[in-house]
Amino acid sequence: MSTVESRPRVGAGVNRVDGPRKVTGTAPYPMDFSVPGQAYGALVQSTVAAGRIVRMHTDAAEAASGVITVLTHENIPKVRTGPVTAIGPSLPAPLRNDRILHHGQHIAFVVAETPEQATAAARLVRADYEATEPLLDLHDARAEQLIDPWETDTARGETAAALESAEVTLRATYTTSDNTNNPLGLFATLAVWEGDTLTVHDTSQWPSMVRTTLAMVFGIPESAVRVLVPYVGGGFGSGLRAWPHVTLTAMAARVIKRPVKLVLTRPQMFTSVGHRPSGAQWLSVGATRDGELVALDHRSLSSLSMEGTDYEPFASGSAYAYRCPNVITQDRQARLNIAVPMSMRAPAEAQGNFALESALDELACRLHMDPLELRLRNHTDVDPRSGLPWSGKALLECYEVGARRFGWSDRNPEPRSMRDGNWLVGYGMASAWFPYFGQPCSAQATINGDGSALVRSAATDIGTGTYTVMAQLAADELGLPLDLVRFDLGDSDMPNSPMAGGSGLTGALGNAVHDACRRLVRSFAELACGDADSPLLGYSPDDVECTDGRVHPAGRPDLGESYADILARHGLSELTANGNSTPPVTTELGMSLAGAYGAKFVEVRVDADLGLIRVARVVSVIDGGRILNEKTARSQIIGGTIGGIGLALFEDTVTDPRTGRIANGTFADYLVAVNADVPDLDVVFVGEPDRGTATGTKGVGEVGLVGIAPAIANAVYHATGKRIRELPITLDALL
Ligand code: MOS
Repeated sequence: MSTVESRPRVGAGVNRVDGPRKVTGTAPYPMDFSVPGQAYGALVQSTVAAGRIVRMHTDAAEAASGVITVLTHENIPKVRTGPVTAIGPSLPAPLRNDRILHHGQHIAFVVAETPEQATAAARLVRADYEATEPLLDLHDARAEQLIDPWETDTARGETAAALESAEVTLRATYTTSDNTNNPLGLFATLAVWEGDTLTVHDTSQWPSMVRTTLAMVFGIPESAVRVLVPYVGGGFGSGLRAWPHVTLTAMAARVIKRPVKLVLTRPQMFTSVGHRPSGAQWLSVGATRDGELVALDHRSLSSLSMEGTDYEPFASGSAYAYRCPNVITQDRQARLNIAVPMSMRAPAEAQGNFALESALDELACRLHMDPLELRLRNHTDVDPRSGLPWSGKALLECYEVGARRFGWSDRNPEPRSMRDGNWLVGYGMASAWFPYFGQPCSAQATINGDGSALVRSAATDIGTGTYTVMAQLAADELGLPLDLVRFDLGDSDMPNSPMAGGSGLTGALGNAVHDACRRLVRSFAELACGDADSPLLGYSPDDVECTDGRVHPAGRPDLGESYADILARHGLSELTANGNSTPPVTTELGMSLAGAYGAKFVEVRVDADLGLIRVARVVSVIDGGRILNEKTARSQIIGGTIGGIGLALFEDTVTDPRTGRIANGTFADYLVAVNADVPDLDVVFVGEPDRGTATGTKGVGEVGLVGIAPAIANAVYHATGKRIRELPITLDALL
């Protein structure tokens, strides 16, 4: 049986199989679904950030034209709490009491005949509040702090003593702001009950989880819930929860005994579907005069909502990024009256890597050492936490290729030394990593009577290329041309899939697809090898291959027969096999699963008078292990790089410190990197298939973003001589 590695179609930069559907507008996104008789929901949100509701005034809304019902905490039927998922406990049920925990919290759900009527009536709902002073400042001593909430804190060696005795030490504080995921697609939910059976179209990166959650919340079997999401208009992490509005929509549909559809508004997207939490990070770095790290102390405090959890161990990457004998990493979260934070584009690493890679640049300056040389001196091919070799880490090659393509050796190390007219030119670099994330997964593969294949799993394609790369993998494994293979996803009735998140889906799903296809080929081989009418009679099923839709003895395509012939002779309309994958067990591997690595090189230009920052060039060299599709993988890195430019220079969700209201919750006011902000991006993949993962992939969803912000900040320092330790870097900080 051939391995993934020997298959030719994998790796090729084939176009997205769903591309034509997307560009012609025929791909249905969650908000595009409608059913006859549906009513429309509209959310009413709190206008205070803390306290309680004394009284709800719903009479005017209830009397408004077209209104069917208004749900509040006073009349909504009770529901149960959802499950503990791979990313922590479900959020508590919405509208379950009178407490207000953040500005923008849902306090009522209006249902009407049309969206306009629902929206108009939602404006008529009033609440009397007993408001209390909200906790909004990360450093407010009254805020409850969660210490080591994910049990990721590390300590090795004697860090305090090593810092004390280090030849050179650097201490610095870095801050990052709240950012909002802002996928282009507005989140939508359409809930349809038929008796006790619930069908939901929902914007999600994880339909299997939404199904489990709704089943638990409503106390019905999972088999009675179906969640559909064939296309998603982006996620960036915001689709990793079954959010309160999903429960509200399903509950409203149950109450009025009609389908209900809800589409969030853009401002509601800022408070309802997560965001990247702000944080402060304190770093102390000790080194020898020749640049060997001897101590690293990295601590973080990030913001969290009053309820809920969010996996954001900012400092955890510092435990393994470099060789260093004495390391402390500690992460804490402060509970504030803010909307629920949630994973956003490289959660934790986006922030933690900014701090560490900025600190190393500062250290390099202090040592009068090239910042790249400092990284090279502290490179490690073993995981410093366990002493085990990495399953794959081509970071040295990333540095080498990146430095060459970028022209790093042209850099004059002196800050403010490079100029082009009125532009101060700066070169900066940073290392990037994103840890391996494994999840169990299943898939199913079928060969139909006509010889075509259908492979499926309840995954989502959030723009990453899942439809395409899984079709490629299946086509190669089944020996079929790509156009005879359909990969289907986005339906919780399909075999269970994990989240499209944590850069982990391609590895998990790819391995499950591989397994399903391998088993399917085996079934055909067993049928044929025992069949007197087959040219394969007498061959061992172990020695059978498939090419061009034909099943044949290994190396003898001339002796084969087609899938269709085998099915027809046995009177079968199709043959199906199920496949599964589980993450590798590190202790059995004798290796530490590496995840993806990269080196980022950036040129910025800063207007000497105005402080205006332009990113002029970015070179990203990525070790993503086996690349299944060069084109979609490159797109991932390009998207991540643009997100990194946003993190560095633009994105900032501003909360009014008095009221807790988000002050810039619209696309007019919240800045993201747009075309004019993004130069040509050079992306190169290096490295080998990962030795620790079955598919050889590492995941390229998030490593594209990591390292961009510190490379930009370091380049800004090089251009201007000003060290900015706070993101985003705005021009006023440079003036
Ligand atoms: Mo990603 S932030 O894990 O969807």
